[in-house]
Amino acid sequence: MSTDNTSLKLKKVVPDAEDFLPILGTDFVELYVGNAKQAAYYYQQAWGFKPVAYSGLETGRKDSVSYVLQQGKIRLVLTSPLQPEGDINAHIDKHGDGVKMIALWVDDARKSHEETTKRGANSYVDPYEIEDEHGKAVISGIYTYGETVHLFVERKDYTGAFLPGYKTYVPRTKSTETGLKFIDHMVGNVGWNEMNKWVEFYAKVMGFAQLVSFDDKDISTDYTALMSKVMSNGNGRIKFPINEPAEGRKKSQIEEYIDFYNGAGVQHIALATDNIIETVTALRDRGVEFLYVPETYYETLLDRVGEIDEDLEPLKELGVLVDRDDEGYLLQIFTKPVLDRPTMFFEIIQRKGAQSFGKGNFKALFEAIEREQDLRGTLN
Ligand code: FE2
Repeated sequence: MSTDNTSLKLKKVVPDAEDFLPILGTDFVELYVGNAKQAAYYYQQAWGFKPVAYSGLETGRKDSVSYVLQQGKIRLVLTSPLQPEGDINAHIDKHGDGVKMIALWVDDARKSHEETTKRGANSYVDPYEIEDEHGKAVISGIYTYGETVHLFVERKDYTGAFLPGYKTYVPRTKSTETGLKFIDHMVGNVGWNEMNKWVEFYAKVMGFAQLVSFDDKDISTDYTALMSKVMSNGNGRIKFPINEPAEGRKKSQIEEYIDFYNGAGVQHIALATDNIIETVTALRDRGVEFLYVPETYYETLLDRVGEIDEDLEPLKELGVLVDRDDEGYLLQIFTKPVLDRPTMFFEIIQRKGAQSFGKGNFKALFEAIEREQDLRGTLN
């Protein structure tokens, strides 16, 4: 069994750090994309997200457009520019489609901004209030790795569909949910030797603690390697693993990401389900592509993880991975990049007690990713 004792215990990187930044949960994830209308269709039809809100020309917004979609507690915002130049165009030009905002739901957006900027965060936007007939919200924001931003969203005095300025979005097509519940974790890829800098940022600036520690010996194949540390906020609702490339014989997948994204950014978003077999079956039927897992992975699976509730056959058929830690096990699977650039992808995860991240699967997973890299000719 691949149990390890490094998991699950919060290790305070900054001793006695108080929770000066209480976070209620992930509020939304906003992607800057080239064509938000078509991206919205994809996330509705392939992923089963429901339309929630819209803002654009029809709501008096002239320069950009946003579609808000939701499934369970997961809220995606897809934003495209309507005019040349400006920040959104620059972001898409440099990075392709990708995550711009990881918005965090807080009780006090002013205090969140003050506490983090006084600890060294670079401000993205000072606190501002927005209002409509459904109430008011306060938003502020700071930069994290790359050009990625953490917005702080205070919405306790707001009862509308999303935020002031949005109207209800009613598309012509209906979507059926695929059982996705909430964001389990979001992983950032940062450049060479930058992991510890960002671990320290989350510790000092945001009061997070370190959950699990890997080193490159844990996560390496014949060719590629990476290092990863997981940062969590005080109540454990927000978990941000941070990866950096490590020296391997060939180019690591983290390096490939950094090359195509032109810098640090969000590598994957892990979405939780209560039934991974049903969820992945539905996603696959609708065209979501998952990484191939060699059949040999399943030959020794039960020896590695012990008894599990699920039948092996559907897991093998879908390519679902299993790992165990001291507290239980987890099932997980990774999509191929959902963009043409080999950058962002999704993970589907079902936890059965385990609170770790599938360390035992990393080798099997990376070998699968390397086969894909080889097909793209980017392994060298
Ligand atoms: Fe993950």
